[in-house]
Amino acid sequence: MGSLTRIMLPLLLFCLGCCCCGQDSAPPLVRVNLDRNPRFRWEHALSLHDPAYLRECMDTIIRVMAPNWVHDIARLMANELERFIHKDYAEEIRGISATLRVNVGDAFLLNLCYEASMYCTSIVAEDGNGTIYHGRNLDYDFADYLRNLTIDVKFEKNNRVKYIGTTFIGYVGLWTGLSPHKFSISGNQRGQGNWWKNAITALLLHGHPVSWLIRDVLSEAEDFQSAVMILTKTTIIADVYYIVGGILPKEGVVITRNRNGPADIWPLDPLNGEWFRVETNYDHWQTPPPFDDRRTPAIKALNATGQENINNVTLYKVLSVKPILNELTIYTTIMCATQPDLYSTRIRKNTVSAEESSKPRF
Ligand SMILES: *[C@@H]1O[C@H](CO)[C@@H](O)[C@H](O)[C@H]1NC(C)=O
Ligand SMILES: *[C@@H]1O[C@H](CO)[C@@H](O)[C@H](O)[C@H]1NC(C)=O
Ligand SMILES: *[C@@H]1O[C@H](CO)[C@@H](O)[C@H](O)[C@H]1NC(C)=O
Ligand SMILES: *[C@@H]1O[C@H](CO)[C@@H](O)[C@H](O)[C@H]1NC(C)=O
Repeated sequence: MGSLTRIMLPLLLFCLGCCCCGQDSAPPLVRVNLDRNPRFRWEHALSLHDPAYLRECMDTIIRVMAPNWVHDIARLMANELERFIHKDYAEEIRGISATLRVNVGDAFLLNLCYEASMYCTSIVAEDGNGTIYHGRNLDYDFADYLRNLTIDVKFEKNNRVKYIGTTFIGYVGLWTGLSPHKFSISGNQRGQGNWWKNAITALLLHGHPVSWLIRDVLSEAEDFQSAVMILTKTTIIADVYYIVGGILPKEGVVITRNRNGPADIWPLDPLNGEWFRVETNYDHWQTPPPFDDRRTPAIKALNATGQENINNVTLYKVLSVKPILNELTIYTTIMCATQPDLYSTRIRKNTVSAEESSKPRF
């Protein structure tokens, strides 16, 4: 090897490496057969990584997210999960814990950890022809782990796709999902104070975890209206924003939720020029704090795009504008209930340097 090659080759490989890491990619697609025993439904997803690696991710997230008293309660509740959560989810969690060879309480606790701290941007928009597009960025701590654990899932029943969602390996809830030719849903966290205390109390009183309610609705609701109704009324364990898109003109809404019921319902109003709704992590009737304003840049980008031009590609571009896209962004999903084939998730990698977006949240 000539000396120039000896110098140039590592340099070239280094540069190629940078380019590869910087590129967005599709997550693995997993099929979950709902006709199977819930204990074995997630086996394929779990087999995508070494169990030791999945245990490491789990330990890290639980250690940082969950206070010790919550850990104790989760282990106690694990003895009789069915008393508190839907039988199928309890069985899925038992199956996950058996495959990973971890305590059921820990697998359950991991699922609760993913209920907290979902900073996000969701947008629902209607194009000039009345087609509804729905996009979301999901931002969370542990982005380096979670980019590796993100999966798209097709939930199948009787050999047909019943609903589609995006989640993390080991997590049975959905923050993002679509019921083909019916509606799409995303969830964004609302507020944060005393999260664990309120959530555990509400869980013991039979509230639904907010992301499991999304999965329930995807599985059960017949149409946009009934999805909105269930998401508005069901008692849940934490405040949240539910963003829903449908298949007919005007079928788009942001539901601001308290645990026991709706705080506000904010539908599209295209006849008055309000053809999109943007929700981040603040009530829409309040001004977002200056240190975390992802709303104004999103509105500007949508205004610049224009209703005639909104589609899956332009909505993705809006969600790629800084700081809507930031260092905590794990994935971007684009959905359109009338065209389920457009469902597309991209994992966002090394997109923004730390200095550019290291700002406090809440
Ligand atoms: C929307 O309508 C315009 C004009 O009527 C048409 O050119 C365009 O193809 C339509 N787009 C879709 C996605 O149907
Ligand atoms: C994510 O996966 C890549 C490739 O397997 C690995 O190099 C990296 O260490 C993983 N990141 C974390 C935080 O586990
Ligand atoms: C977006 O456009 C609307 C309607 O023209 C306007 O009222 C609003 O101020 C614009 N917002 C931003 C942030 O550009
Ligand atoms: C948008 O949809 C077209 C098909 O209509 C597809 O080819 C393209 O990959 C999609 N782009 C994104 C960013 O989802």
